[in-house]
Amino acid sequence: GPAAEDTSSAESRSRNSAGAARGTASASGVGNLLGIVRDAAVVVGDDGRVAWTGPAAAAPAADEARDLDGRAVIPGFVDSHAHLVFAGDRAAEFEARMTGRPYTAGGIRTTVAATRAASDDELRANARRLVAEMRRQGTTTVEIKSGYGLDIGGEARALRIARELTPETTFLGAHVVPPGTDPAAYIDLVTGDMLEACAPHARWVDVFCERGAFDGDAARTILRAGAAAGLAPRIHANQLGHGPGIEVACEVGAASADHCTFTSDDDLRNLADSGVVATLLPSIEFSTRQPYPDARRFLDAGVTVAIATDCNPGSGFSSSMPFALALAVREMRMSPAEALRAATAGGAAALRRTDIGWLGVGARADLAVLDAPSYLHLPYRPGVPLVSGTMLGGLWGLE
Ligand code: NIG
Ligand code: FE
Repeated sequence: GPAAEDTSSAESRSRNSAGAARGTASASGVGNLLGIVRDAAVVVGDDGRVAWTGPAAAAPAADEARDLDGRAVIPGFVDSHAHLVFAGDRAAEFEARMTGRPYTAGGIRTTVAATRAASDDELRANARRLVAEMRRQGTTTVEIKSGYGLDIGGEARALRIARELTPETTFLGAHVVPPGTDPAAYIDLVTGDMLEACAPHARWVDVFCERGAFDGDAARTILRAGAAAGLAPRIHANQLGHGPGIEVACEVGAASADHCTFTSDDDLRNLADSGVVATLLPSIEFSTRQPYPDARRFLDAGVTVAIATDCNPGSGFSSSMPFALALAVREMRMSPAEALRAATAGGAAALRRTDIGWLGVGARADLAVLDAPSYLHLPYRPGVPLVSGTMLGGLWGLE
């Protein structure tokens, strides 16, 4: 089915039958890439999936219909990279960066200390608040990582809390080596008892492969151990400099290599050949003043590109997929259509999900309604809250 549909339509669902929609005109231009339907209707079935899409005039009858009055409808954003279980913030670190201090992985330890000191309820409330904030900006699926506990109890509790909010949970015990710990001993823990305690609550395993965090050999060991425990690998790669992260991703068959700020042409060929998604995180370049990756190079090399927020208190605290999308267009040379695709279908590919990231028959009815006639307004009107509502599994959320 289509990667996205702009409709200016009605949209609806009731418990016992399908809902339908009708409306007027919509976006023009690159309709073919996105499969845009104008004057469209979306019909949602009892199972929370899309049952029919097409011109409103041809829509089958439904129990309940909602006229969206010319608004564009897009698949809900799939934010495939976020760190939401933490306490405190690092606004002072951001301030220092904006006046010339570089970002380093070392700041993670500040958040680890605050997170360890917080109660379960505090962590849960903070994470819920951030998920709600994302939802108001059109995100209907979010991946959530652990990584600010860095001991068995702290990592397992982060994943238990994350699990309450999303099925896309990621064990990131290998974020940094905690203070006062021998690196080799920590890798043994992460691949041993900590993994055992965390695997039941996680779908994915991740590692921060970077200078100051874990090297290529450690990353390989940790991802392989995670895979042996039933977790599928993904990786933080090449964020602060060129490193082995992308090679490791391709070797272990990771779903996604994330950041990819510094890449060689060989890296891009490797990603394309291995079918590893490159998840670009432009809000991080914004907040660290690093150079943006050039998404054109990735797309021209045939790499599947996703965009995500990487929302975290350190390297970038934006929860906004519209902001990431606008940066991707303005700073990474993606067309608006490519960026929308990367923020929806791309994120779904990074999570190996085929039920989300698109709107067509059989897709989960996860969508966002924009207070705009076209998705183009997302990058065209940056910083403007354009999401007027979302539907999740066929149920209207925020209105
Ligand atoms: O994706 N790179 C590692 N993890 C986060 C940063 C975490 C932090 O600074 O607290 C990231 O950028
Ligand atoms: Fe991250």
